[in-house]
Amino acid sequence: MSKPFLSIERLTQQYPDGQGGTMTVFENASFGIKKGEFVCILGHSGCGKSTIMNILAGLAEPTSGVVKMDGFEVSGPSLDRGVVFQNYSLLPWLSALKNVTFGVKARHPDWSADKVEAHARDYLAKVGLEGDVVYRKPSQLSGGMRQRVSIARAFANQPKLLLLDEPFGALDALTRGTIQEELIKVWAGTEQTVFMITHDIDEAILLADRILLMTNGPFARVAESVEITIPRPRSRTEIVEHPNYYAIRNHLVHFLGQRSKELAGKQSGDADQRPETVRIDKTAPAEDEPSAPPPLRAVNI
Ligand SMILES: Nc1ncnc2c1ncn2[C@@H]1O[C@H](COP(=O)(O)OP(=O)(O)O)[C@@H](O)[C@H]1O
Ligand SMILES: [Mg+2]
Repeated sequence: MSKPFLSIERLTQQYPDGQGGTMTVFENASFGIKKGEFVCILGHSGCGKSTIMNILAGLAEPTSGVVKMDGFEVSGPSLDRGVVFQNYSLLPWLSALKNVTFGVKARHPDWSADKVEAHARDYLAKVGLEGDVVYRKPSQLSGGMRQRVSIARAFANQPKLLLLDEPFGALDALTRGTIQEELIKVWAGTEQTVFMITHDIDEAILLADRILLMTNGPFARVAESVEITIPRPRSRTEIVEHPNYYAIRNHLVHFLGQRSKELAGKQSGDADQRPETVRIDKTAPAEDEPSAPPPLRAVNI
């Protein structure tokens, strides 16, 4: 097997439990992500999703284990890894445009001011922000607009890896739907790899190539890697008609509703905890006619 772009190897996170002992969030978690993949992670609150993401971002150190990107160990934050949090971490004293140019300038110190601005405007336009609105400060923008600026800012820096922690959690359903589609369009035109935390099953099916499922903590595990066998481009209204949609959805609902608890709380000992691959495909040919699975990543929307 070729080496994955992102390799998470025997990651363990423990915290003091407040009573003189330790609490193990997860232990020996190991998985890989391929270049250009869009991976979502689903699991109940408190299982350790944000902890994993902060480690991938280089914002936190695990108790043990390593993360390698392109073969190099991740340590500390880097412009190669962009992060978008739920609570829009924009600089409040800068306009939407300046919030984006700020990072682009740091990334490309050799670019002229005009080039930096044109690049930033291009990414803002990709998420529907054009005209006078780009001169507004975050406090003068709606929640949806602020999150669009955060996404434009992250993509404009062209990080190799984009990390999103429940980026749409605070948005209403309509705004969320529009921004999901914008996100997928921006991603589809790039080689970027996305790791996104969400608690919304339908959002994960719409966006992801693969969904990682976590059991409840402590001793949480990334138990399954579920392939989303629905070709792209996908649209919210059409995917529900796909023969695999409800089969995949039911599998995810069952995992989160029942199996995430049943599988919880087991110590791994020394074993590597690797997710099991789950491929649900009702359109696959019968077993006596083996053929390669169709490519799932189509980049034209
Ligand atoms: N700095 C910390 N100190 C102690 N416990 C923490 C700390 N950060 C997270 N935790 C605990 O680790 C577990 C996982 O947290 P988190 O990664 O935020 O979960 P999720 O994002 O899946 O909701 C939780 O039980 C949380 O209380
Ligand atoms: Mg979290």
